[in-house]
Formats: sequence, C-alpha cells, structure tokens
Amino acid sequence: MKKQTISVLGIGYVGLCTAVGFASRGYNVIASTHDAEKAAKINKGIPPFHEPNLQKLLEETVQNGLLNCLINQTETAVLETDLTFNAVGTPSKPDGSIDLQFIETSTYEIGKALNKKNTYHVVIVKSTVVPGTTQNIVKPILEKESKKLCGSGFGLCMNPEFLRQGSAFEDTMHTDRIVIGEYDKKSGDALESLYQDFYGKNIPPTIRTTLSTAELIKYASNSLLATKISFINTMANLCEKIPGADVKIVATAMGLDKRIGPLFLNAGLGYGGSCFPKDVKALIAHSKNLGYRLELLEAVESINKTQPLKAVQFCKELLGNLKGKRVAILGLAFKADTDDMREARAIPIINQLLEEGANVTAYDPVAVPIAKTIFENKIQYASSATACLKNADCCLLVTEWDEFKKLKPEDFTKSMKQPVLIDGRRIYDPEEFSRKMKFTAIGLGH
Ligand code: UGA
Repeated sequence: MKKQTISVLGIGYVGLCTAVGFASRGYNVIASTHDAEKAAKINKGIPPFHEPNLQKLLEETVQNGLLNCLINQTETAVLETDLTFNAVGTPSKPDGSIDLQFIETSTYEIGKALNKKNTYHVVIVKSTVVPGTTQNIVKPILEKESKKLCGSGFGLCMNPEFLRQGSAFEDTMHTDRIVIGEYDKKSGDALESLYQDFYGKNIPPTIRTTLSTAELIKYASNSLLATKISFINTMANLCEKIPGADVKIVATAMGLDKRIGPLFLNAGLGYGGSCFPKDVKALIAHSKNLGYRLELLEAVESINKTQPLKAVQFCKELLGNLKGKRVAILGLAFKADTDDMREARAIPIINQLLEEGANVTAYDPVAVPIAKTIFENKIQYASSATACLKNADCCLLVTEWDEFKKLKPEDFTKSMKQPVLIDGRRIYDPEEFSRKMKFTAIGLGH
C-alpha cells in the first residue's frame, strides 16, 4: 500500500519531532513555518534547538528527500499531502489564558487550501488547546473557508502529544499512549490507520474519544504531573523543619507504592519550561470562565512561584547580606538536556539575587547564548563549571545536568572563596558533601 503523505504546520519541538518521526519511517513529509531562519536550518539538517538524538535523523531524512520545510506555504503543504498535523504554538496571554491566534490563522490557511482540494483530507490538531477549541473554533473556520462540511468534505481530529524536551524524539517514537479525539468515525479511522501503519504490531494503547476529551486529557496529564512536583516540594519544605528528615528518602519510599509511582517526585526549585506553567495557568483560566474555580491547581501554581526563591533564602541564611557576594549558578536551562529557558527557575532566582546586590556568574552546558539575551551584561557567564566556581562565596545548583552530578566536594572547595553549596535539585550526597563543605539542599532537615 502506498504510504500516506503528511504535512506539519509549526516546527517547534512537537512539529519537528512529528515531522522527523514520520520521515524517518519512510513517509514523505512537508513542514511549513513562518520562520525563514528556522526553515533554512532544517533544510540543511540542523535542528533549530538543542535536542539529543534529533540531529542525525533530521540530517538523514532531509538528505533522503523525505522531509522538506517550506516557508509560509500552508496551501502547498495541504494540497500535496493526505493529512495535516497542526502543531503551531499556543502561548499564554498576560492573564494566563490561552492565546489561540496562531491556531486561528493557520486553520484559516488550511481551510482556504481545502477549498482547492478535491480529495478527502484529515486535519489533526496537535497543539495543546483548551477543551472546546477544535469543535468551536477550528471546525467553524475550516468549514467557512473550505466551503465544505466537516466529516464529509474533510476529516478532523485532536491528537495531543506527550513528549518531553530533552527526550522529545524518543518520546515521539515510543509514546505510552495515543489519544485520538475524533469529529466522526471516518476521521478517527483515518488517523488510527496511519498510526497502525507507523507502529505496526507495537502500536501503543490507543484511546479514541471526543475532541474535547482529547483536549482535556492533555491538560489533565500535565496538571497532575505539576501537582506531583508541587506536592513533593511542599513535603520538602516540611522536611526542612524536621531535624533528620530527608525528602529524597520520603519520595523513594513513596514511589515504591505502585499506586503512587516513583516519577515526578524529585523535589527541587519548581517546574519550568514551555508547558507546565502555561498549561496549568490556561486550565485555571478556562475553568474559571466555565464557572468552576480550580483551587487545587491554584495552589500548585502558587507553590511553584515561591519555590525557586527558597534558593535565595538559603543563600541569605548561609552568607548573611548578599551585597557584593559572588554567587555561582550552575545550570540555566529549565531542565537538563535542553537549551530552553522559557520559565526557567534560574530567571526568578538570578533576578532576586541581583536585587539583593549579589554578583552573579552562571554556567550552563548549552543555554548560555539564550541566557545572554535575557540577562545581557547584568551577570557574568563562565565557560565551564570550574571557571564559574572561581572565587565564589556560594554556589547554587539550579539545573540537574549530568556533568554537574560528576562534581566532587574538592571541585568546589579548591576554587571557591567560601565552600558553600546549595543543592537545588538534590543531585549530591548530603553526607559526603556536608563532611567537606558548608552544604545545604532542598528538603533536608537541619
Ligand atoms: C512536559 C511533560 O512531561 C510532557 O509529557 C508534555 O508532553 C510536555 O510537558 C508538553 O506539554 O509539551 P517538559 O516540559 O519537556 O514536558 O519537561 P518535564 O520533564 O516534564 O519537566 C518540566 C519541569 O518540571 C522541569 O523544570 C523539571 O525540572 C521539573 N521537574 C520534573 C521537577 O521539578 N521534578 C520532577 O520530579 C520532574
């Protein structure tokens, strides 16, 4: 059977991994974006962001001619393919509610293209959108612009993704589950048969449901993961008040209970990134509009807001007044294996340190170029962890990169002015480190 052809709109993490994923399995993929610079990189086989394991396959698929990225050519992308995944961004508005402008404009373009098409085409919303968006916003725009009826003239699905940055490609290829929200059975069948062809016998459990349920599954999943993080951070803060208590051991023991599970119970400085903060806020705002206050998620969010500032509080407890003190920051990205600094916990931490008059030097294996666009010359940037620690009064570990896990107490004591370390991500052994230096960590009873 001839493989279906696929178009992808938007080439952020979701769009690009979807495009490369299909192309790597032999599908012809056309991507389209408004960003000429990103398109040029992709067509040279260079990912526009740091993401492990993506480069090689991107290079191969571009060289084999299976993936081509166009600039602003939604029409060609739709006309020349069988299915379109819409993966454009859905940022937040200043009040936290979802900003659907990119979904709306791209849907308008898809609709116009469908008007010129004589064959059945399936449109799949892959972006994270609040419940009701596909039915009440996407469908009417498509019908109006294409002058066709959804269901008979074209198919419509909502298919959320669950990939994590840092393992985005792996997650795309081996997802735990596929969720297909379908306007009608024909649309759902078309998308499921694409995934059956893609995964073969190893197709993950597939849930077929309504468009709105699919949309909510994505928010519910991210909200629960964010809740787990704020929960364990609350336990960490409690542990600090109980002599001898250690949140890491609490989490390990809790995680052995199959009903709880071990993942997303790492206490730290809170969650960042382009998803959890935005999605939790968007669901709170959406629910409020529906007349229901999500008090649980409001608490999750407010805990996450104060958690990073605990790092600064620790600094003050250990050093006293921070004016003129040299603070070394290890890690700027919102988590390891990415250069993304959206909502990174390093941002409020560094801003607060600067406000307190500290001199900040920071190091991150890949995020320094992005950090420079945020902090400019307000802080110094080091080219290695050792250089960052030089003459520092205090070190604050913010991101759990593997290279930081390898550091020994001596690596700190030999170059710092004062051997003071705050482990904001619980990557160091408290016993070993507190024997050799002034050491404190999130969730450790004093
Ligand atoms: C998250 C979800 O994990 C994905 O399933 C989802 O598809 C994605 O959002 C999305 O909506 O697109 P991501 O933001 O890439 O993925 O990163 P995570 O690994 O979930 O980490 C998010 C934040 O939580 C990071 O700042 C991380 O440091 C923090 N975190 C994570 C903790 O503080 N503790 C933990 O135990 C786990």
